[in-house]
Amino acid sequence: MSPDILKNLNSGIGDLRPYEPGRSIDEVVAEFGHHEVVKLASNENPLGASPKALSILTELENDLHLYPDGNGTKLKKEIADHENVAFDNIIIGNGSNEILELAARAFLSPNTSAIASKHAFAVYKIVTKSSGASLTEVPSCNWGHDLKSFDDYLDSGTRVIFIANPNNPTGTYNTHEEVHSLLKKVPSSVLVVLDCAYFEYVTKDDYVRPIDLLNKFDNLLITKTFSKIHGLASIRVGYGVANPSLVEALNRIRQPFNVNTIAQAMACKAINDHEHIRKSMELNSQQYEFLFDQLSTLGLDCIPSVGNFITFKGNFVGKEIFDSLMKKGVIVRCVDLYDMKDYIRVTIGTEAENLKFLRALEDLL
Ligand SMILES: Cc1ncc(COP(=O)(O)O)c(C=O)c1O
Repeated sequence: MSPDILKNLNSGIGDLRPYEPGRSIDEVVAEFGHHEVVKLASNENPLGASPKALSILTELENDLHLYPDGNGTKLKKEIADHENVAFDNIIIGNGSNEILELAARAFLSPNTSAIASKHAFAVYKIVTKSSGASLTEVPSCNWGHDLKSFDDYLDSGTRVIFIANPNNPTGTYNTHEEVHSLLKKVPSSVLVVLDCAYFEYVTKDDYVRPIDLLNKFDNLLITKTFSKIHGLASIRVGYGVANPSLVEALNRIRQPFNVNTIAQAMACKAINDHEHIRKSMELNSQQYEFLFDQLSTLGLDCIPSVGNFITFKGNFVGKEIFDSLMKKGVIVRCVDLYDMKDYIRVTIGTEAENLKFLRALEDLL
């Protein structure tokens, strides 16, 4: 094909690197012929999907010939009850990534910019640059977002600030006070996206209380997901919580049937599966301690994490360990894209998965 077509790509896309998803089990089995592969690469829930969500698959009504409810009526009601906000405060997305993208499409364009921390979740750069805008990266502080200095980077072109709380891949978090202080300093015309994909895993008392901030700040968009603690990464559902006029503006550019019927029905069940959420949190806390301790004993330098993953460094090149672990049937994540070439990110799995990973890693060190 003639490369002429690529000359007319929108500005910002030319030098963009695509998001690198974790390698799938099928891919690794096909490449290396393993019988058993452990995937600890994408911060999924090792206990699997919410059993309540799974149970609806056998009792699906025969309405799959109909378009989904484009307004997400039942699901938004469940989310509103769960978050203790009104129905009109909620927008649902095809994963929370879609909400991030809608925010960028609605507010960013060439000659505007967004702010995010260095080492912040990769999708912020992708959605910002895809909108033709530029991304200003604020230097991190102990691998976390230095929210105190974010306002130093604001200028007349700033339209959006992205905060990952907790952040992926560093696992760091910002306190309620830190987020609140930043919101007080940011002009009310600048959108602040508070990405809480790992919200449910955080057990810190001073962690952000996003909904408390909602009534005070009309420029706040909180995002959450069903991909992590609810174990529904494959069905692609996330949501945003914001004031109704902001939600209404984002709905104007949302695809009409962005969340399919099965996904909506499963998410409705998952959000009320308190037992699955409790077990998942419990397993994560217990295995975090175990894994952190074992990695540290191996002489590896772990960044303390409040999420369901640990990013650590050793005397190695991340990509090499990533490849070698894959050959041993363990998929982790290399974080080159985040300018962390010496690091590896591992999702906290079940005890058996973590042991398989640790044994494989120990063999390589
Ligand atoms: C910080 C953060 N935000 C958002 C997402 C997007 O999740 P999803 O689109 O599956 O809801 C992820 C996924 O890994 C993440 O790590």
